[in-house]
Amino acid sequence: MNLNKLLRKNILGMKPYSSARDEYKDLQADMVFLDANENPFDTPLNRYPDPQQTRLKESIASQKKVSTDQLLLGNGSDEVLDLIFRAFCEPNQDSILTTPPTYGMYDVLANLNAVDNILVPLSPDFQLEVDSIFDAIKPQTKLLFICSPNNPSGNSVERKAIERLLKNFNGLVVIDEAYIDFTKDPSWTQVLEQYPNLIVTQTLSKAYGLAGIRLGICYASKEIIAVLNKIKPPYNINSLTQEAAIKAFENKDSVQAQIESILNERSNLINAFKSVPFIKKIYPSEANFILIKVDDANKRYEELIKNGIVVRNRSSQLHCENCLRITVGTPSENTQLITLLKTLI
Ligand SMILES: Cc1ncc(COP(=O)(O)O)c(C=O)c1O
Repeated sequence: MNLNKLLRKNILGMKPYSSARDEYKDLQADMVFLDANENPFDTPLNRYPDPQQTRLKESIASQKKVSTDQLLLGNGSDEVLDLIFRAFCEPNQDSILTTPPTYGMYDVLANLNAVDNILVPLSPDFQLEVDSIFDAIKPQTKLLFICSPNNPSGNSVERKAIERLLKNFNGLVVIDEAYIDFTKDPSWTQVLEQYPNLIVTQTLSKAYGLAGIRLGICYASKEIIAVLNKIKPPYNINSLTQEAAIKAFENKDSVQAQIESILNERSNLINAFKSVPFIKKIYPSEANFILIKVDDANKRYEELIKNGIVVRNRSSQLHCENCLRITVGTPSENTQLITLLKTLI
């Protein structure tokens, strides 16, 4: 893989914006800061945030066993995904490949960036059809998106299939690990050194309970990260988000306790679903949600809404006819759901 060949030409030659805080970052130092046209009065959010998020990256790097130059942070993983498109996909020329049913944002971003999205469906048990993927790849295909554990199906994607793609595809393989904390499978971040064409994304929106702060993490080779760093908005991670995320990584035990509770509740829900007659199939889940097939998804969705419970109707997605996607809630929310399901006929 030749990274410079994959990059858009304008990005290759582009000079990044240099912000005042890029030149002198150490706000703790005993200096007078008259460089960034900020309000001088301590609000205490009057200063621009650290554009490189140094403290937060150090904390993530030590927990995830990577180096800080293998990390880029985004305003949610959605921003990270968008930056990847903008760095590598020439509008009206290049393509990406995705495997439906999967996370809807890849297609939205392809449209937004005027990039063709080649669709190669997953098998009915939601695994990659690797031969069909290789048949569908074109010379202009820059990115393959794989979501594992996959949304909306909930299963992990087979490692061997992903390895074949990483070894034989000349573009970049993006593995979206938004739900990685809910599976025992190892993260692909552990093999970053082995695959120069691997990009992994994670988020604090799921297991970490911080969807409101918007923090996405991108892991890749330091060469790929340097490119993404060059094009990211200078202050894309605000100060409040950086502080909240640092705290979350310091309080790993309480995050872990919540994950354990969600996994416990996931098993309880699956067991309870087994005795609901109109639930026809429960798909295996490695995530914090469960996909179920019911007799009539529209009818069941409406019944749940009428009784104050909102789930996601995924019936319009490939292989998901009459399927509802249900997020694992708190123990009392799940009890409410089960009690209700048992009263519906
Ligand atoms: C697979 C997947 N990736 C990414 C995201 C979005 O992550 P973020 O909140 O970090 O933008 C979601 C949210 O539902 C998701 O399901």
